[in-house]
Amino acid sequence: MKIEKLDGSIFKVTYGKPQNPLEVVQNYHAGDSKDFSCTQEDDRLVVKDKEILITQKSEDFNGIFSVDFSCKDAHFFGFGEKMGYLDKKGRNFKMINSDFPLHTPDVDPMYISIPFFIAIFGKSAIGIFVDTTSYSFFNLREDGFTISAKDEGITIYFIYGPDVKKVIGNFTGMVGRMEMPPAWAIGYQQSRWSYSKDDAIEIAKKMRQKEIPCDVIYLDIDYMDGYRVFTWKKDFENGFSNYLHDMGFKLVTIVDPGIKIDENYDIYRSAKSMDGFVKDKEGNDFVGYVWPGRCNFPDFLRSDVREWWARSHKALFEKGIDGIWNDMNEPAIVWTDSKTRKVSELFKREIDFQILGEAKTLFLQEDAGDEILHKDDNGKVWPHYKVRNVYAYLEAMATKRAFELYRPGKRPFILTRAGFAGIQKYAAVWTGDNSSWWEHLEIEMPISMGLGLSGVAFTGADVGGFGGDANGELLARWMEMGAFFPFFRNHSAIGTARQEPWSFGEKIEEIAKKYIRLRYELFPYIYTAFYFAHKEGIPVMKPLFMLDQANTDLYSINDEFIFGDSILVAPITRPNTTWRTVYIPKDKWIDMRNGNLYEGDHVYKIDAPLDEIPVFVKDGSVIFRTDPVNYIFEKEKMNLYVDIYGNSAIGYLYEDDGETLGYKEGNYNLYEFAIGSIPGGYTIGLKALHHGYSGRYDKVWIRFLNAPRMITKVTLNGKEMTNHFEGKDLVIEFQMKDVI
Ligand code: GLC
Repeated sequence: MKIEKLDGSIFKVTYGKPQNPLEVVQNYHAGDSKDFSCTQEDDRLVVKDKEILITQKSEDFNGIFSVDFSCKDAHFFGFGEKMGYLDKKGRNFKMINSDFPLHTPDVDPMYISIPFFIAIFGKSAIGIFVDTTSYSFFNLREDGFTISAKDEGITIYFIYGPDVKKVIGNFTGMVGRMEMPPAWAIGYQQSRWSYSKDDAIEIAKKMRQKEIPCDVIYLDIDYMDGYRVFTWKKDFENGFSNYLHDMGFKLVTIVDPGIKIDENYDIYRSAKSMDGFVKDKEGNDFVGYVWPGRCNFPDFLRSDVREWWARSHKALFEKGIDGIWNDMNEPAIVWTDSKTRKVSELFKREIDFQILGEAKTLFLQEDAGDEILHKDDNGKVWPHYKVRNVYAYLEAMATKRAFELYRPGKRPFILTRAGFAGIQKYAAVWTGDNSSWWEHLEIEMPISMGLGLSGVAFTGADVGGFGGDANGELLARWMEMGAFFPFFRNHSAIGTARQEPWSFGEKIEEIAKKYIRLRYELFPYIYTAFYFAHKEGIPVMKPLFMLDQANTDLYSINDEFIFGDSILVAPITRPNTTWRTVYIPKDKWIDMRNGNLYEGDHVYKIDAPLDEIPVFVKDGSVIFRTDPVNYIFEKEKMNLYVDIYGNSAIGYLYEDDGETLGYKEGNYNLYEFAIGSIPGGYTIGLKALHHGYSGRYDKVWIRFLNAPRMITKVTLNGKEMTNHFEGKDLVIEFQMKDVI
């Protein structure tokens, strides 16, 4: 065992001789904490602070390297994308990127592997990052945990908090944080397997006609010529994307990594000519079956292959696409040539039920971990099981490069299904093929929160459910909830009931529209939450325990979440239900719908008719809104509404141009609004903590919600302002340029 102190709060412990084909840890940013130590005592590791005590029991290598730890009273959170509830105590997990499309509660592994978790011991939390790209395994018990990896050693980083936010901040400091996405990616997005060109245009027109805000239309696999990646069906003539762009839509196309074996297909030929495919054990190009039939797979471990992949995107960007959706990139391999051989051998024998059973297992998707070989830039050969978990990560890296080549100066938008620790540097993540089940509506909350705790802030699920048939009530409830997820896209599978906002009649359409519009209204608030995810790694969607991590009661709240810093969302997760119990966290919270005030640390019965989702704002917060628009960039100048909840409050507002990389050079504004009370009035301190952008917000209305009638005086940066009551709210108006 080797212990290295990297920073006061991060220790790197290496057992045996681990070998990774790729380094995902880039740097360390952490403060120094004297309370925290990682030391060796009699051959064993001891990790501790005032509350944390983790002691190593044993290490073992038996084909798989394992380290066993004891600890008491810990709860475990994170692990990236996993089925089930937030608290992972009592569970076993595998990290092997996998495409299991039917997400039953016990499905594991899933599409994404993030071998990172946070152990909370009351007031102290510690992050544990197992730095292996290989298959890894976790066993989480009452009395400790075991970490294993298919390697000859393991590197484990112990990342101190003691605050959970600090742990996530320090971890994302190591593996990278998300960049600011293009602002349009915060808008509503409409998808379905598989819109044709005419469908896409019709959907776009309908959205505008019905004034349902929408920013993005997706094209699934059927835009391609025979599922050949980087090709188009003939009817997608040059310039077709202009129809969509003219209406203010962005266009995102799916890209799958399997390349059809076809001598008449130039992408195949160019990859073949550079010998760019992964190999099987005999040294031939590995063959797997995906949508196009027999395919070869690019070896993204090689930088020349990544560059070729990036350049192959020219065919998509030339047609005016705006974003890339990376799917099937675990990679999903539905079938292989070797399986074909096995099946034919099996059926040469007399058929009995055991043989049928064996045949059935052949139809399951496999990870092909031992069957595929990769090569790195130095010519070193790596088994697939060491590369598989970073295959999509490397693909996303190459895709980001495509944006640099063909959309220079613009922010990339990449959506991915598979990934690894740090995937947020390149892509947003959606949780794959869920189903139109109430159970899935509910479970998407802890899945997305788990991703957020693992560093991935830009996440969401197929709203309405992918597989199976949605119905009006389910869609309404899911749209209400989806409006408060970081990524907001309605997507469904071919052959299922249509689930665009208007698919279930006017009543449901109105509900969908109401919440999509609310999302656009809240854009200034949401975009600011994205800024903090970019800057500090803080998830946009947070579990309640992040408000008070020592309160173990909060660890099992899986059906409520905090959106941004100040909004509590409590979705309805069952059919035929118009109320629910809501746990209101400590302090005071205000029902956003009607201004009702709730004292915290209590459970309440809250009404929620079909067209309402319970949403609460923390007393002492500032919520920034604007007017809903058809799409984020519809208007150059916007009104800003600043809603003050409570008598004193503080809030931050971030803005930039929403599309270029200028924010990295300081072209952005960050404002602080500090509200205080004086006898008979309020004071507002408004300052720019950073000012480097001309700004979209023109006129500003500050609104003190439910202000006492006797209030007469409001000052802004010391100057008295005229004010008036609108209903129960006290309002002042001014121009941003007159103050900043
Ligand atoms: C996969 C994706 C799904 C997509 C389908 C067809 O199942 O997860 O979103 O629609 O493939 O491309």
